[in-house]
Amino acid sequence: MKAAIKNGLTTKTMGREIFHYHSLESTNNTARQLAENGAEHGTLVIAARQAAGRGRGGRRWSSPEGGIWLSLILRPQLLFVQASLITLLTAVAAAETTREVCCFMPDIKWPNDLLAGGKKLAGVLTEAFAANDGIRYLVVGLGINVNIKRKDFPPELRQQATSILIETGKQTDRALWVRSFLMVFEQLYDEAAADGFAAVLDRWRRYSSTLGKDVLVCSSGRRIRGKALDIDRQGALLVETEGSIRRFWAGEVIFEQEC
Ligand code: BTN
Repeated sequence: MKAAIKNGLTTKTMGREIFHYHSLESTNNTARQLAENGAEHGTLVIAARQAAGRGRGGRRWSSPEGGIWLSLILRPQLLFVQASLITLLTAVAAAETTREVCCFMPDIKWPNDLLAGGKKLAGVLTEAFAANDGIRYLVVGLGINVNIKRKDFPPELRQQATSILIETGKQTDRALWVRSFLMVFEQLYDEAAADGFAAVLDRWRRYSSTLGKDVLVCSSGRRIRGKALDIDRQGALLVETEGSIRRFWAGEVIFEQEC
C-alpha cells in the first residue's frame, strides 16, 4: 500500500513520510505519538483497520477492512481557533477526490460529514494541540467507507452508513484514492496558506447539504432550531433562530425532516 501510494505522488510535503499498518487502535493516536516525537508536517499514518477508531463526541468509529482510515500530521501557522477551517478543507478535499477517482460526488454536512443519499460516507476528526494561542500541531483524521459491503457494517449502522461500493457498485483503488487526496489536500492547503481560506469556504458552500435547510443544532447539550444561513470566515455555522443569528463552533446538525 505504501509503495502504491508513493508511486506517482508529486506532493512536496503531504505523504512524503508514510507510516502504514495492518491494524492500529486509532491512526489519530499513533499520529499524535509520532508528532510528539517530532514527525514532520505532512506525515501520513494509515491503517487497514482500526480496533478502536474514534469519531467526534467520543463516539466509536467502525473501521473494518475495505475503508480508508488515515491521519495527517500538520504544523500550520494558524491560531488555535482556526483549526476548524482545516476540518472544512479536509471535507472539501475528500469530496473532490471522490468525484475525481470514483466519478461520484458526495455532499458535505456541517462541519465534517460526507453524505451520500443522506447516509454517512466519511467523517473528519481534527485534534489540535496548542501552544499559547497558536497550534503546536494538528492531527487530522479522515475515515471514508470505500470498499465496504452493507453486511460489513455493524447492524446498528446499516441504516445510517453507506460506502462508495454501495453507492457506485464499483471497487475503488484505495492507493489511488489516497494519492489523489494527498495532492488535492496539498493544493488546497497551500492556496489557503498563501491567500486565506475564502476559496475553500466557497467550495465548501457549493458542496454543502446544510445551508438553506431548517435544522436542529445540538451543541453543548442544547438543541436549537433554526435555518442554516451560511458559514462565516472562521468556519462557524450561522443559524437564524427567532429573529436573531447565532453562531455555532461545534455541534451536530440534524435536518428538520429527520427530527
Ligand atoms: C466523525 O465522527 O465523523 C469523525 C470520524 C473520524 C474517523 C477517522 S478514521 C481515521 C482517524 N482515526 C480515528 O480514530 N478517527 C479518525
